[in-house]
Amino acid sequence: MLRRLHHEQPDSFAFTPENQAWAEAQMTKYPEGRQASAIIPLLWRAQEQEGWLTKPAIEGVADMLGMDYIRALEVATFYFMFQLQPVGSVAHFQICGTTSCMIMGAEDLIAIAKEKIAPNPHELSADGKFSWEEVECLGACANAPMAQIGKDYYEDLTTESFGDLIDRMAKGETPLPGPQNGRYTSEPSGGLTSLKDYEADKPEHNASVALAAELGDTLKRIDGSEVDLTAPWLGKEQGRKIGVKARKKVTKPGDAEAALSDKNETGKPRAKADAAPAKTNHAGAASKPGGSSNGSAPAGEGTKPETLDAPKSGGADDLKKIKGVGPKLEKMLNGMGFFHFDQIAGWTADEVAWVDQNLEGFKGRVSRDNWVEQARSLAEGNDKKN
Ligand code: FES
Repeated sequence: MLRRLHHEQPDSFAFTPENQAWAEAQMTKYPEGRQASAIIPLLWRAQEQEGWLTKPAIEGVADMLGMDYIRALEVATFYFMFQLQPVGSVAHFQICGTTSCMIMGAEDLIAIAKEKIAPNPHELSADGKFSWEEVECLGACANAPMAQIGKDYYEDLTTESFGDLIDRMAKGETPLPGPQNGRYTSEPSGGLTSLKDYEADKPEHNASVALAAELGDTLKRIDGSEVDLTAPWLGKEQGRKIGVKARKKVTKPGDAEAALSDKNETGKPRAKADAAPAKTNHAGAASKPGGSSNGSAPAGEGTKPETLDAPKSGGADDLKKIKGVGPKLEKMLNGMGFFHFDQIAGWTADEVAWVDQNLEGFKGRVSRDNWVEQARSLAEGNDKKN
């Protein structure tokens, strides 16, 4: 497969302070002069932060490691774990299509992906939440057919369980990875035939599933609040101290409690005042429901937020300060009637869903990059200045 950089790239890249600290810590694992050995974890962290691996991110990591850009580019374009173009904001499925998986039904899984996500690999679903591709053997042949999302393997899939995974993720659940047919690991499907003593006191999950279940280090950006800042080797509590955000509960098939709810980014129920669009931080033009005639009609889920016909007195905020918003997106937002941080800071989950659906070519960005939280701190900064 041809792997090349995406034709559209953001202007810049910077690790968040937490990820920067994490990346610098990684570099200390290697002897002086061998920092380039940290290239894969740093690129991976950049991808987890941004959703996909951008050119500025590859170059930024190369700068940190004192490498020529071409060397970093060679690594990024070689491994298909690195996504060189935007992927679904909730999940990008890498479906194994090699021998064991093919024999066990990979083609049927791909048919489900085409039906439920998008007809072509690397194409975003209509809501921007999902994408898929076929990949070569992922080394879980005894649990075929299987698919990978980020670090996690979802194994022993059937068309039903794969379709169900997609549906549950779309609702905001974080399904437990590992075998999806009740197997513990890759033991015989009829049960253990040897080493049966182990059966009685085995832990609840196998080692890799336990990582996902206990650290919560799994499906990312399920609702935009799940940028991965985990430092797994530090353990959950210390990891949280360096900035890990609240994660959704990892659920077993059938659990419903983790369905996407109207909560703010701290996990607390969103208060009415918290959810209302901000109107008062700027004197002058007042917002009005549906005020902009340029916003496109609602498509699919969500509620259209209040819009403005023009910026308030004092001028529009520089929306490019929101990470993930470049000149193109800023223009699009202005065209829809959004000019100020305090407008975005007040979007409810329903309104985020509406905007996510209506950002032509950038669907899913609001939740993926957590604009609401970013806009809140930027709006607070504005308030302090005024
Ligand atoms: S053939 Fe699919 S994991 Fe090996």
